[in-house]
This record gives sequence, structure tokens and C-alpha cells, in this order.
Amino acid sequence: MAHFEKAHSLEEWLDQRLAIKTLRRVLAEEYWIPKNINFLWAMGMVLAVTFGILVVSGIFLLCYYQPNIDLAFDSVNYTIMQEVEFGWLWRHMHAVAASVVFLIIYIHMFTGIYYGSYKKGREMIWISGMLLFVSFSAEAFSGYMLPWGQMSYWAGMVITNLFSLGSLELNGLVEWLRGDYVPGQAFLNRFFMLHVFLMPLIIMALIGLHFGALRIPHVNNQDGEEIDFEEEAKKYLAGNKKEAKVIRFANDFLSKDMFVVSIFLIFFFYLVFWHFDFAMDPINFDPADGLKTPPHIYPEWYFLWSYEILRPFPKDPGLIAFGFSQVIFFLLPFLDRSPNVAPANRRGLFAAWFWILLVDMIVLTVMGKVPPMGMFSTIGLVAAWVFIILWVALPFITKNEKAV
Ligand code: HEM
Repeated sequence: MAHFEKAHSLEEWLDQRLAIKTLRRVLAEEYWIPKNINFLWAMGMVLAVTFGILVVSGIFLLCYYQPNIDLAFDSVNYTIMQEVEFGWLWRHMHAVAASVVFLIIYIHMFTGIYYGSYKKGREMIWISGMLLFVSFSAEAFSGYMLPWGQMSYWAGMVITNLFSLGSLELNGLVEWLRGDYVPGQAFLNRFFMLHVFLMPLIIMALIGLHFGALRIPHVNNQDGEEIDFEEEAKKYLAGNKKEAKVIRFANDFLSKDMFVVSIFLIFFFYLVFWHFDFAMDPINFDPADGLKTPPHIYPEWYFLWSYEILRPFPKDPGLIAFGFSQVIFFLLPFLDRSPNVAPANRRGLFAAWFWILLVDMIVLTVMGKVPPMGMFSTIGLVAAWVFIILWVALPFITKNEKAV
């Protein structure tokens, strides 16, 4: 057994057993971040904090939630919201965080696209990020089932129906997923398991992978400049902090991150206390009723753009377009053929591609919310085509891009 000297502090005691000083050195003091970044680079930390809020508030909700089709609705809307002290606060925090996390994810994704942070060497950051996006989608969807309201039931019905894969009519697969002909107790049980156990586990593992993927290529910067991190770190350590192009992860970068996180939290708690209802659908305040289909079924705002890519087409092409929209973002590092790592506004046609994509996805989101009638369905159809064409055109647009 190793010889243990008498420890003079808890830190020393832990260091002898867990090498925490080495761990801190490797994770915090020997990890370098470029200086030339803006507040958008704090979104990753905002996401990590929001995920933490979801976990903590979720644990409190779990103390009273009942995963039973006869009790679930009341356990949320009556027990948690009215009987338990401050139950409403945990529920509002959970619901607002679940919605806001997608806003931040989209900002984080589009920052990555704008600055080309998915390019050579950084592909795994992008792919692990996309896996996180898909996992968060599954987490949000499974959570939406739990209050067992009208929208839980009918959105569950519509989404599981997609697995029949149109004309292939794989109804057996749909029943297998539901554990019944229609959403019922088995359905609620498995979505409960997914929401409180499997998906959080997968998300935590993926966050680990995402952080690990950042380690070797380091984060990008506002000009896409390739930085010699070792060289710049030496300058910093020699006391030449002004000239060095890098700062330490802890506490230089972290303290800047925490400033943005604090601003975010003010906005977050403003929503929690005064506008929590934006994150909740009024129809979901009616208990699930399998005999009463709501006239207009739509998903939460963050799924609307992909829903609107499914909706304007006939059944089978719609499913193919929807499948396309789900996987295409994964392929971004390979579809963008230009080696330029630079902000989009310096990349010619790519700048137009970026802004059209952003506006198109906002149009799709708005159209996904309104009933598919008249002019709205035409606008939706055009926007869905624009989305598809943009992605097909990307390799051609970027192939002959001039070096910047
Ligand atoms: C809960 C989910 C996520 C967390 C906690 C997270 C966290 C982080 C953190 C802390 C960073 C480093 C600092 C920064 O640039 O913000 C980062 C970078 C990055 N993330 Fe995420 N992220 C998440 C989801 C995503 C998603 C959905 C994507 C897009 C597919 C993505 C793509 C990227 C990229 C490309 C970078 C590199 C940025 C650069 O090099 O400048 N992340 N992420």
C-alpha cells in the first residue's frame, strides 16, 4: 500500500487519495480557450446549467408524480400545483427550462454553423452535439406524455403512428411501441422510464463525449484562426498575458461564462414567475380523452419546423422529407466542402445560405403552428422545399468557395 503522509487539510487528504490537484490542473489550468470569442461561446455553459435545473426540478416533481393513467393528470395539476408547498415553482421551473433549453440549443447550433465550428478536426464536436439534440428531443417528447392531458395523449398517438412508415403499414410496430392498440398504461410506463431514467443517462454520457471532443481541437474563435495553443499557453504562463491569444478555462473563461449565465438566469426566472404559461399548452389542461380528438394537433414550438416539413406533402413523401430533416444536420461537416473556417459573412454564397436557412426555419416554425389551410399551406410547402433545396445545394455552393 502507498505511504500516506499526515494530511493538513481536506484538500490534501483528498489529493492523496484521488489526485484532485492533478485532475484540476488537467481539466482547468491546462485547458486553453481562445481570447477572441464573444458571448455566444457561453451558450454551452448556459445549456449545461439549464440541464442541471431540469434534473434538480425533475427530482422534486418525481416525489409526487404518479405514473398511472388514472392518477397522473391529478398528481400534476392538483397535487403538485396546489397541494404541495412550492410544487408550482418546481413545475414552472421544469416546464420553462424544457422550453428555453431548445431556444439555447438552436442559438448554440447556429453559432456553430455561422463560425464553421464543425469543420475538419471538430466533426465529433458537431456529431456529439447533434446526438444531444436528438436525445433532448426524445427527452422533451417523453416528458410531454407524463401529465396525461389531451395533447400528451394525441401527440403521443400521432408521433407513434409515424412508425407505421406510411404505405408500409407497419401497424404491428406501432402497437409494439405502445404496448397496446392505443396509448394506455403500458405506453405511459415506458415513456416514464425513458423520461426519468434512460434518456437522462444517455444525455449525461453524451455531454461527457461532447466535452471530450472539444479537448483536442479546442474551441473555435470569431475569425476561425488556427491557434498554436501550446505556443500561446507558454506566452501566457511566462506572464505575457496581453500578447497571448489564449486564456485559461478556469477561472478566466469560466468567470466570463458565469456572467452570461447570470443574465440568462434573470431572464429564466422572469419567465418562471410571470410568463410560465408560454411553455404550456392550454389544451393539455384537459385530461386525456381517447374519444375526443382535439381539432388541431400540433407539437411544442421547438418541433414545429420539422413538423411543417412533414405536413404539406402527401403521406409517403412527407415521411421521407421528415426523415431527411432529422438526419441532414448530422451531415453538415461533410456536405460543406469548403476548407474555410471563417464566419459566414466572409464566405460569399455561404452567407446567403446561412441566412436563408435561418429565416426559412423560422417561417416553417410559424406555419407549423397555424392550421394548414389556404395561403398558410402554400407558404408551408414552399418553405419545406426551400429547406430541402438548401441542403442539396450546399456541397455545390461550397465546393468552389474562394479561400479566405
Ligand atoms: C445540452 C446540450 C449541450 C451542451 C451542454 C453543450 C455544451 C458545450 C460547451 C460547454 C461548449 C464549449 C463552449 C461553447 O462553445 O459554448 C460547446 C461547444 C460546441 N457545441 Fe455544444 N453543447 C450542447 C449541445 C450542442 C448541440 C445540439 C450542438 C449542435 C449540433 C453543439 C455543437 C457544438 C459545437 C460545434 C461546439 C464548438 C464551438 C466552437 O468550437 O467554437 N452542441 N458545447
